[in-house]
Amino acid sequence: MSVPAVQYPKAFSSKQGSGFFADVRTLWRLFLGQPRKGSHAQRLQAFYSPQAERYDSFRARLLHGRQDLIDRLAIAPGEYIVELGCGTGSSLDRISSQVCDLARIDLVDLCPALLEQARKRATGYQTVRVIEADATLWKPDQPVDGVFLSYALTMIPQWPEVLSSAYAMLKPGGRLGIVDFHLPASGNRFANAVWKAWFSHDGVHLSAEHLPRLQQMFAENFCSERRAHIPYLSGLCAPYYLFVGKKHSVQGDAE
Ligand SMILES: C[S@@+](CC[C@H](N)C(=O)[O-])C[C@H]1O[C@@H](n2cnc3c(N)ncnc32)[C@H](O)[C@@H]1O
Repeated sequence: MSVPAVQYPKAFSSKQGSGFFADVRTLWRLFLGQPRKGSHAQRLQAFYSPQAERYDSFRARLLHGRQDLIDRLAIAPGEYIVELGCGTGSSLDRISSQVCDLARIDLVDLCPALLEQARKRATGYQTVRVIEADATLWKPDQPVDGVFLSYALTMIPQWPEVLSSAYAMLKPGGRLGIVDFHLPASGNRFANAVWKAWFSHDGVHLSAEHLPRLQQMFAENFCSERRAHIPYLSGLCAPYYLFVGKKHSVQGDAE
């Protein structure tokens, strides 16, 4: 008896522009920065909605280590996975061959303009739920196998709450993966101050506290500190880290 082939959804292709002129428009938005007025959700929407359709093209060259994070999470068939701060849901492209075999993947974000792109991307996948919610408040209805955040923790002012919540939603043995910019402990103080000011203009709040907190929470972990090229500024390399921690099954791990 022949086994029917799994039908995978067609690859997402947004009508976004890519190339130099699309980059100029994105760079202009980054130059204008994130608005200072309004709620956190309103500021995200005002910042991202004019660039949502061009988001992926530029960020593919700015946000490094996302594929490596996914690979190190070692997502397995049948698992329940959550991404907090999913943006346009581009992580689906990185696990496209696995998505149909998952029990479920929940993509959570607070910005409707980016979620619109994520919903287009998720079309046809039965295992994907796209959820508009604040990552500090949202909770899954059952424990999950893996949670990850890709360049989202630095954009969430209440980041300690998000880490506690992510830890709490994991099953024993579950994994938390994070890739994000940061201020390295080994970094030059002047350089760290410049990076902090630069990124905060766009609502990205670099911190020297994220990585130590993660290492304290997860005794068993993989951690790598790296540098990423900035598009059009090839001489500049921004510090970022990649972290994957495994929740211990024995009581006593830090929360
Ligand atoms: C730099 S983007 C990264 C998006 C995506 N993870 C990626 O790698 O391309 C940061 C994301 O965090 C989301 N975000 C910020 N604060 C949030 C919050 N409180 N709850 C949920 N998402 C949030 C933003 O809307 C945005 O989509």
